[in-house]
Amino acid sequence: MPADPAPISVLFEPLRIGGLELAGRLYKAATAETRSTEDGDVTDELLEFYEPMAQAGTPMIITGNMFVAPQGKGHDRQTGIESDRRIPGLRTLAEMTHRHGSRIFAQLNHCGRQQAAPAPGFTEAVSASSVREPLLGTKARPMTVDEIHRTVHAYAAAAVRAREAGFDGVQLHMSHGYLLSQFLTPHTNRRTDDYGGSFDGRLRMPLQVLRTVRAAVGDDFPVIAKLNGHDHLPGRAGLDTPALVAIARRLQDEGLDAVEISAGHYESGLVAERGRFKGVLRMMLTEGNFRKIAPWRRFMARAAAPVLEAAMARMWPPQEGFNLPQAEQFTRELSIPVICLGGFSSGPAMAEAIHSGRCDAVSAARAMIANPLLYRTLREGVEGPKCAWYNGCLAKWGGKPVDCYHPEIRRQRDDLLAKHGLTLHVRASTEE
Ligand SMILES: Cc1cc2nc3c(=O)[nH]c(=O)nc-3n(C[C@H](O)[C@H](O)[C@H](O)COP(=O)(O)O)c2cc1C
Repeated sequence: MPADPAPISVLFEPLRIGGLELAGRLYKAATAETRSTEDGDVTDELLEFYEPMAQAGTPMIITGNMFVAPQGKGHDRQTGIESDRRIPGLRTLAEMTHRHGSRIFAQLNHCGRQQAAPAPGFTEAVSASSVREPLLGTKARPMTVDEIHRTVHAYAAAAVRAREAGFDGVQLHMSHGYLLSQFLTPHTNRRTDDYGGSFDGRLRMPLQVLRTVRAAVGDDFPVIAKLNGHDHLPGRAGLDTPALVAIARRLQDEGLDAVEISAGHYESGLVAERGRFKGVLRMMLTEGNFRKIAPWRRFMARAAAPVLEAAMARMWPPQEGFNLPQAEQFTRELSIPVICLGGFSSGPAMAEAIHSGRCDAVSAARAMIANPLLYRTLREGVEGPKCAWYNGCLAKWGGKPVDCYHPEIRRQRDDLLAKHGLTLHVRASTEE
């Protein structure tokens, strides 16, 4: 006899993350909104993106990655948290979220070598080691020990700003091949000093970040991390799930409050965003973050795009809960909550992931872009717009405001928002 389906109600059970009780178990995962001012301040366009999710009662909204230091800025119109002058804007975002009864976490990041062009005011990228990023072509300079110490403190100062601005917690971005992930992964960390080599050496900087953040914000302020469940770097010295679980265990011992599981570096391909890829590389190269890479690289990538997109479509088709096999290994080994993301869009799949004990909560990025009221529509049992995994949002990120670029789904989304008295006045909506 088939087992009974998992009750949807499991999504609406509270979950404690550190000292904070969240009202439910479905969260908004980080999406680099590309909606701040060019300099990095919060705008109305950014608030509009989050307001429907907050109105829907989404228990935790994780912002797109915010740069903690000027050199760690990874894309245009990224939100900054590197200076006290950002606090008033960030406070507006936190207050808007709280007004609707939701909670908001700031994702803290330094992009390291994953930079299509040097950050404004800089001529180069920095990383753990000088390993060329093959898609962007960026060859970073290894950080000096002094720069590592300053960056560790930049994370702590950013976390303090998040707390001062009224955020409910921070997420340290340790996945997707950004700076902290570059330190963890042997392929990108070839250092021979205290910050490389052994497992402990590669973990040293991310651990110092966590410790320094924790000391700065105190025990009561939730600090979570986003970590890969697998690096997906075949033929290169990437991290597998047992190694990443061991890292998570060390972070837990140092006071981490929860971990969200994703996958891959940039050079793994689009393994973190399984779905459809037709036209995605071309859009990335003309409208998205990759438009800034060297012209010859763009030309080559455009020529190879149809073959690459077809290969990606075969390797990484859409699938609900595609990181669950890795996430469940973390859940077995850790006592802190494990949040799984990757391809979730339907209530039954999310409920099953939690009910079966494979994770404690789930998060969604693209499904919430397609339907910002997802948490509410699931709770009310009504149909909402469904992500088609067309990946236009991903392709245009860094160049155009993050939004759903599938015309039919966007129309459904706009109708739904209008029914609730909400409109997204983003530039993107009038452009096409
Ligand atoms: C437009 C877009 C922007 C993203 N920006 C970020 C980001 O700033 N930080 C991050 O950790 N992940 C980012 N991601 C990855 C998502 O958080 C998530 O890991 C991935 O999309 C898989 O989840 P999904 O299947 O629910 O979309 C982004 C994804 C998309 C589509």
